[in-house]
Amino acid sequence: MVEPISSHSILRIEDLHAHYGKIHVLQGVNLEIPAGGAVALLGRNGVGKSTTLRSALHLMPRSRGRIYFNGEDITALKPERLAGLGIGYVPQGRGIFPLLSVMDNLTLGLRSKPDPNILDEVFTRFPRLKERLSQKGGTLSGGEQQMLAIGRCLMMSPRLLILDEPTEGIMPILVADIRRTIQSINQSGVSVLLVEQNVKTALKICHQTYIMEKGSIAFEGASADLRKQPETIHRYLGLSLDAA
Ligand SMILES: Nc1ncnc2c1ncn2[C@@H]1O[C@H](COP(=O)(O)OP(=O)(O)OP(=O)(O)O)[C@@H](O)[C@H]1O
Ligand SMILES: [Mg+2]
Repeated sequence: MVEPISSHSILRIEDLHAHYGKIHVLQGVNLEIPAGGAVALLGRNGVGKSTTLRSALHLMPRSRGRIYFNGEDITALKPERLAGLGIGYVPQGRGIFPLLSVMDNLTLGLRSKPDPNILDEVFTRFPRLKERLSQKGGTLSGGEQQMLAIGRCLMMSPRLLILDEPTEGIMPILVADIRRTIQSINQSGVSVLLVEQNVKTALKICHQTYIMEKGSIAFEGASADLRKQPETIHRYLGLSLDAA
């Protein structure tokens, strides 16, 4: 039986606080991703989107907060255990290994030999990667590096894929490709948390949208509703949807 999307949450972030030195950068972030859902986290530059992801994933210290994955309290979990649990994370700037080949980048994090079926699936999604298996990651184009970073997560068969600005610096024609890929990954049952500057792309992919302002969530709602509220988008993001 297919579970209804909102039956339970795959990730819940509760009252997350974090500091950089004395600066109280996250001031109580609350966010929930329904199992199977796609959720956008939007906000102007520097409001704390990437910090929210890093802090939720325990890649930096937190001052307060609890994190639940699929109902399990993972607040104290070490970040190296996340992939095994089913959480894939593509950091802003992609985080691939520039001197390693495409193939080595794809298989680096695996404990055992790559599953040929999963490898095939990644190559079906990203045929460009298959054509460039021995090319060094750092010599790929920006869009191809993004595909490699997403492909590397898919090798671990994630249940949740967290993407920090996957379309940043990518030419418009590839942005649509990446958008369709994320949509199709989500439709295959993988939940998605997407941080994006490109509001149109985010609203197309995600059912639910959160907007951050200075360290906390200022708006939460269905993407379909937000699309009908250009004044909200303008107020929090400083842009009009036509120009986005
Ligand atoms: N390592 C750090 N040390 C000190 N301050 C930091 C550090 N990383 C980020 N900051 C500051 O914390 C705030 C939030 O940064 P963060 O990277 O989370 O923003 P963001 O919403 O992801 O922005 P962008 O859209 O530009 O990626 C910013 O003011 C930033 O300058
Ligand atoms: Mg960021």
